[in-house]
Amino acid sequence: MEDRNQEHVAPVLGIATTSHKLPSDFVWGVSTSSYQIEGATGADGRGPSIWDGYCKVPGRIANGDTGDVACDHYHRYAEDIALMRRLRVHAYRFSVAWPRVLPKGRGDANEAGLAFYDRLIDGLLAAGIEPWLCLYHWDLPQALQDEGGWLNRDIVGWYGDYATLIARRYGDRVRRFATFNEPSVFTLFGYGLAWHPPGVVDPKALHRAIHHVNLAHGAGVDALRAHVLRSSIGAVHNVQPSRPAGARTAADVAAAGLLDAYWNRAFPEPQLLGRYPEELAKLVEPHMQPGDLDRIRRPVDWFGLNHYSPIYAREDTQAPLGFAWADAPTDVRRSPIGWQIDPKAFRDTLIGVSNRYRLPIYVTENGAGANEAPDAAGEVMDQERVNYLKNYISGLRDAVAAGADVRGYFVWSLLDNFEWGAGYASRFGLVYVDYPSQRRIPKESAHWYARLIRAEAMQDLE
Ligand code: FCB
Repeated sequence: MEDRNQEHVAPVLGIATTSHKLPSDFVWGVSTSSYQIEGATGADGRGPSIWDGYCKVPGRIANGDTGDVACDHYHRYAEDIALMRRLRVHAYRFSVAWPRVLPKGRGDANEAGLAFYDRLIDGLLAAGIEPWLCLYHWDLPQALQDEGGWLNRDIVGWYGDYATLIARRYGDRVRRFATFNEPSVFTLFGYGLAWHPPGVVDPKALHRAIHHVNLAHGAGVDALRAHVLRSSIGAVHNVQPSRPAGARTAADVAAAGLLDAYWNRAFPEPQLLGRYPEELAKLVEPHMQPGDLDRIRRPVDWFGLNHYSPIYAREDTQAPLGFAWADAPTDVRRSPIGWQIDPKAFRDTLIGVSNRYRLPIYVTENGAGANEAPDAAGEVMDQERVNYLKNYISGLRDAVAAGADVRGYFVWSLLDNFEWGAGYASRFGLVYVDYPSQRRIPKESAHWYARLIRAEAMQDLE
């Protein structure tokens, strides 16, 4: 039998230290999302999403950037599949733009939009890359927002119908589905901190949205299970340690605990353990109906985990949520866009989530942001990103060695893309995108990742 924790050297990568062996069917992949890469926001009958309108509000997005063109992936998907093939990735996590397939969010489907994802999925399969389809990565149809969006309980049914449409259309070729990407980010940023659409600070609305998203998750799992044979379903949660900023007073520790409840537990706990975190239970209660927790809690097949760096909170008695988001201390290591680098936090998070929820984990996002440019030779030497990935993947190996059940790792992201409020100023891609020409240039990190995947495959043959 294979010893999963066997130690061996990986000389191809020039890594001098020993590293822990991963399961032989470990999935190496890359992730993207619809609004961040597709562009073509007005093409072939796509309806508007909440991000289209939000980007046009002055001051919301750095440099006034929008996702109108983004990476023009809608037209260049074949080239992007070819790039993934060169990377030798096993899997690609993407999201479907709800307003592309249902321009009004419900009712008549848009055949041209559905056909785009047919082409994408068929192209991936022909390239030997498994599609991992995420149903919701934040681009809610504007038409549904106009009816209250996540605050209208009817959205649970609308989302369930959308999930059914997707399951029936693609379930013959796709078996890996995620119901949501980072529900805590789009609810907290949308309704608690006003950093994402709809851009309000309204605690009551936040708690209501949290609950409806959880109910929609349950409805989505049911739809996928009913229509997809051999389905493998999860939800994607961001999990990162929430730490007190500054002097670490008792009040700051409590603030970090509260942020932890919103950020790390508001969704996995009801979905997997059947209860809201203690800090939130009373706040969500007014929005609940009898039987809701049973509608939310569903057996799933895996835990999708996104992780970048620790987050910080401090006490703020004036803040509507009872805490303020805070910066990391000044003396920590940071990526070029200022995010803390702490691979041990990643290791500990993986161990913690594995122990708590007892599900196989797929790391569905991890990566580093920068603002690099090609050098005189036209190459992008992103050594800092290579180092980040090396260190985080070693953290992952350490977690596996300690018994965490981690089955895959997806880099965020395949391409530089529209990074929400930061617009195009933050680049997370393994592949550089020259936006004016839409030329793609694989960075040093892309070459490194391809070598890593190859080296891992060779070790499995040993
Ligand atoms: C995550 C998002 C993803 C991307 C990365 C950098 O929170 O899921 O879309 O923006 O951060």
